[in-house]
Amino acid sequence: MSLTIQEIPTKDAPMALLLIADPSEDKIRSYLPGSKCFVASREGVVVGACVVQALGVGAHELMAIAVHPDHQRAGYGTALLKHVIELFRASGARRLEVGTGTFGYQLAFYQRQGFRVDHIDRDFFVLNYPEPIFEDGIQLFDMLRLTLRYPEQEA
Ligand SMILES: CC(C)(COP(=O)(O)OP(=O)(O)OC[C@H]1O[C@@H](n2cnc3c(N)ncnc32)[C@H](O)[C@@H]1OP(=O)(O)O)[C@@H](O)C(=O)NCCC(=O)NCCS
Repeated sequence: MSLTIQEIPTKDAPMALLLIADPSEDKIRSYLPGSKCFVASREGVVVGACVVQALGVGAHELMAIAVHPDHQRAGYGTALLKHVIELFRASGARRLEVGTGTFGYQLAFYQRQGFRVDHIDRDFFVLNYPEPIFEDGIQLFDMLRLTLRYPEQEA
């Protein structure tokens, strides 16, 4: 597997891919400016993407991460996530946060890289999206907040 991961200008963010992770294009467009976008490519074809937004001093949030359905379960999502984790570690970040509405396999995907459950943002998806969101036939209501702390930066 030869995977290339690079940061690209947010204006070139692959919207179709990001919509797999976040169903609202308006919402994605609202956080893209000021965020960083990373893409994973194989033989010149973009197979995965993620967006990271600065939250404040030393804190960042992974706003969306997705791998094209034809390429899932091949380790690309993990490679992209690890790349981002190490990049922000090297930049001196204290923590990386992520919110997920799906408490299924995505939870293990994040926990495997050291993310820990922080809290539940109750009714987040009802209050922040104009339309109900369904995943695997289940309506999303609450957002599970996870945090990866960089212990070497914690004073
Ligand atoms: C989450 C996502 C980015 C993971 O990317 P990926 O390239 O498929 O993940 P990896 O191949 O690195 O898989 C890592 C582990 O995650 C779990 N996993 C990933 N996809 C899974 C699936 N469809 N079903 C069950 N487990 C899955 C597995 O434990 C997997 O390890 P394994 O294959 O050794 O069992 C990708 O599945 C995706 O785009 N999902 C839809 C969008 C989404 O849910 N984004 C996150 C929003 S919170």
